[in-house]
Amino acid sequence: MAVKLKSRDELKAMREAGQLVGQTLAHLRTMIRPGLNVREIEKYVHEEFKRRGAKETFRDYRPAPKYPPYPSNICISINEQLVHGIPRSRVLKEGDIISLDLGATYKGFVGDAAITVAVGNVSSEVQRLMKVTEDALWAGIKAAGTGTHLNDVCGAIEDTIKPTGFGIVKGYGGHGVGRDMHEEPHVVNHRMRFRGTPLRSGLVIALEPMVTIGNPDVEEEPDGWTVRTKDGSLCCHFEHTIAILEGCEPEVLTLP
Ligand code: MF3
Ligand code: CO
Repeated sequence: MAVKLKSRDELKAMREAGQLVGQTLAHLRTMIRPGLNVREIEKYVHEEFKRRGAKETFRDYRPAPKYPPYPSNICISINEQLVHGIPRSRVLKEGDIISLDLGATYKGFVGDAAITVAVGNVSSEVQRLMKVTEDALWAGIKAAGTGTHLNDVCGAIEDTIKPTGFGIVKGYGGHGVGRDMHEEPHVVNHRMRFRGTPLRSGLVIALEPMVTIGNPDVEEEPDGWTVRTKDGSLCCHFEHTIAILEGCEPEVLTLP
């Protein structure tokens, strides 16, 4: 399928969708503390999106027929859970790490972003895991100038993670974003054997590095959605939606 480029007007609309996601995540970050039941997170998103007139992009989403409709407005993945965790009643404990992955559809366009937040104090190794994952995201963003190719972004992400000895998860990754949450191209978190699509002005993509402390092999939980590490080791995920623009740095659409 051809990669769709956005017009100036479409980019304007995508800024609003992205900012809404960024602002909502910024508020959710302030809610995270030991003793919080994660159901409260889902409730806040529901009320905030209703108040602002945004649609819950994730709710009822089905990437393929084998998936049951996604039952929430947010993915909450805790500790050994990597992505796509379904929020259920669970109280956060000191030392947990929690990934919040949020999508909003606003004026017809999607914003998609994720953060991982420490619950109270975590070990220095876990702090490093989180820093490396976020650094990998920003390295990918910095590499996404016009005139380069997708593989330059994938390579920058890999090169940030590899020297640390942490695991790079394969089989999941970022994607084009627009009127649909998932558009072409797929964006892996490691170097490919080809250059990939050229990064042209008007391309909007979500980058989402996923990093593990231990072995990077992952599996699905029986709920059909939640992805966790096979060895039960901690893992981390950050995501931004970015627009490639001629003559400028890539614009991060999902900042607050
Ligand atoms: N950022 C995630 C992704 O791109 C969000 C999808 S979660 C889903 O895969 F529940 F909606 F599928
Ligand atoms: Co995404």
